[in-house]
Amino acid sequence: MEGSFFCVFKRALLFLSLQVLMICFMHQGYSYGVEGKITSHTVSVSSLLPSPSCSPSTTKASNRKSTLEVIHKHGPCSQLVQDQNPLNHTKILLQDESRVKWIQSKSFNSSDSLKSLAVASLPAKSGITIGTGNYLVNVGLGTPKKNLTLIFDTGSSLTWTQCQPCVGSCYNQSDPIFNPSQSSSYSNVSCASTACSQLSSGHGGSRCNGTCQYSIRYGDNSSSTGFFATEKLTISPTEVIDNFKFGCGENNQGLFGTAAGLIGLSDNNISIVEQTAATYGKYFSYCLPSSTSFTGHLTFGKDSTAPSSVSFTPLSTVPQSSQFYGISIVGIRVEGKPLSIPSTVFSNGSAIIDSGTVITRLPPTAYSALRTTVRKAMANYTTAPAVSLFDTCYDFSKESTVVIPSITFSFAEGVNIDLDPTGIFYVEDASHVCLAFAANGADSDLVIYGNTQQRTFEVVYDVAGRKLGFSPNGCS
Ligand SMILES: *[C@@H]1O[C@H](CO)[C@@H](O)[C@H](O)[C@H]1NC(C)=O
Ligand SMILES: *[C@@H]1O[C@H](CO)[C@@H](O)[C@H](O)[C@H]1NC(C)=O
Ligand SMILES: *[C@@H]1O[C@H](CO)[C@@H](O)[C@H](O)[C@H]1NC(C)=O
Ligand SMILES: *[C@@H]1O[C@H](CO)[C@@H](O)[C@H](O)[C@H]1NC(C)=O
Ligand SMILES: *[C@@H]1O[C@H](CO)[C@@H](O)[C@H](O)[C@H]1NC(C)=O
Ligand SMILES: *[C@@H]1O[C@H](CO)[C@@H](O)[C@H](O)[C@H]1NC(C)=O
Ligand SMILES: *[C@@H]1O[C@H](CO)[C@@H](O)[C@H](O)[C@H]1NC(C)=O
Ligand SMILES: *[C@@H]1O[C@H](CO)[C@@H](O)[C@H](O)[C@H]1NC(C)=O
Ligand SMILES: *[C@@H]1O[C@H](CO)[C@@H](O)[C@H](O)[C@H]1NC(C)=O
Ligand SMILES: *[C@@H]1O[C@H](CO)[C@@H](O)[C@H](O)[C@H]1NC(C)=O
Repeated sequence: MEGSFFCVFKRALLFLSLQVLMICFMHQGYSYGVEGKITSHTVSVSSLLPSPSCSPSTTKASNRKSTLEVIHKHGPCSQLVQDQNPLNHTKILLQDESRVKWIQSKSFNSSDSLKSLAVASLPAKSGITIGTGNYLVNVGLGTPKKNLTLIFDTGSSLTWTQCQPCVGSCYNQSDPIFNPSQSSSYSNVSCASTACSQLSSGHGGSRCNGTCQYSIRYGDNSSSTGFFATEKLTISPTEVIDNFKFGCGENNQGLFGTAAGLIGLSDNNISIVEQTAATYGKYFSYCLPSSTSFTGHLTFGKDSTAPSSVSFTPLSTVPQSSQFYGISIVGIRVEGKPLSIPSTVFSNGSAIIDSGTVITRLPPTAYSALRTTVRKAMANYTTAPAVSLFDTCYDFSKESTVVIPSITFSFAEGVNIDLDPTGIFYVEDASHVCLAFAANGADSDLVIYGNTQQRTFEVVYDVAGRKLGFSPNGCS
């Protein structure tokens, strides 16, 4: 399988203003200002730290029929072999930089990547990982079905898993490697099929050698090559997708942790979203838990237990990053007050939402204003040194409760999202708690709304309706 690559691949209490007399009240750890806006969160420091044991989510969502449990790659809920995969914040944040560079690289657009990589050969070394998402789901593949732990990624199209006999090479994974010859529902995709041509016109290069073969390469040179095939994919006992098109990877490199592969949720013909359009109507939602010691969920289709109060903002396509879901951020408020930045800071550039990027990347003008405002609000806390991506850190080791300012993101069409406290600060440990945002190189760079800021929200992708929804308290 050596050969050419085709395509990538809450102080509550009173909040007083000297200018305006504001009557505020306290409710459930939040404090509200005028207009009912949350101004701060009072949180116990221990609630910001992950617990050493797993507390699976018990929301209504866990009873939905087409739901998968979402687990953080590193932490007590993960069944992956942790000694080969320990939680290392430095590494996670380096990988996050690598992913962001890849997404923002000017050369990253579907047609272009196809051409430029058609002549590139398989790199011998596997570099740092793409950090392709830190959240996992467990699916069943084949007949009889085998459990596979896959990374889920809204920025990828093709779903693939490592396959025996690993003609090229396979990396260590926690689950047994899928063996197509032991499954009665496995079929190769023929070269002449529409699926094979969709693969080449999409984000996985294809070539023909008897049957349709795929080759996908990610921004850091991680890759997977193998047979494009169909299989029975089991989401839950009642939800089985027949003839699901996936990559049976015989030659896989790069460090995907010890996950068995990846499940692609982008808007592309070969993604699971399009493949299941008839059943689930190109509609899915997920909730990422507040910490590694809780679980979330990924649901396909519009379930009757779906939250009724979802605020929707339009989804768009960003030309140079067409496989990502484009959104429009219009502003940011801290303690209910808009940051004083020109409105063009957001309107001039493009923005996407990504399940795989950890930390939201903001235009430097917006980040700088955010940081200044948050630092003022946090002025009475002990600061900690800057670390990796972060320049605004605090030492909460001597505090039992802290009051942190609310941060509200405003999206097009009047959608205002008050971030969960766990979406405001990135907690390495009680003595390193950092403002969980980073600045892009320039205001014109692509803005990325990352997964930390999505925590605890049910994030709804109505791909057919071209809208993205947020509903609070989707999971713990
Ligand atoms: C964490 O990752 C960084 C970067 O990869 C590495 O230099 C460091 O040694 C790792 N720390 C531990 C404890 O493994
Ligand atoms: C793709 O990237 C190339 C530069 O690498 C650029 O010339 C081309 O215009 C881009 N295409 C689109 C559709 O953005
Ligand atoms: C497969 O996963 C299901 C649900 O995640 C679990 O109940 C079952 O025990 C697993 N089977 C094996 C063989 O690991
Ligand atoms: C893969 O796993 C085997 C057995 O658990 C171990 O001996 C080997 O060192 C691992 N290889 C890598 C590259 O981590
Ligand atoms: C799929 O193709 C590979 C390579 O040609 C072959 O070894 C394998 O037997 C085929 N599997 C089936 C079920 O046709
Ligand atoms: C095509 O398939 C044959 C037999 O399965 C194999 O020997 C050959 O190396 C393959 N060619 C390429 C370019 O992968
Ligand atoms: C990936 O491989 C290409 C060509 O082999 C090389 O130019 C590039 O620097 C590599 N990127 C990384 C992140 O290793
Ligand atoms: C999906 O494939 C059809 C026909 O093959 C094509 O017309 C359409 O543009 C493709 N859509 C996407 C999102 O790739
Ligand atoms: C926004 O774009 C306009 C026109 O391209 C430009 O004149 C202006 O300087 C830009 N503003 C910012 C804040 O980048
Ligand atoms: C910091 O503490 C001082 C003295 O207790 C108080 O007057 C001030 O309002 C506090 N500042 C903030 C931002 O909470």
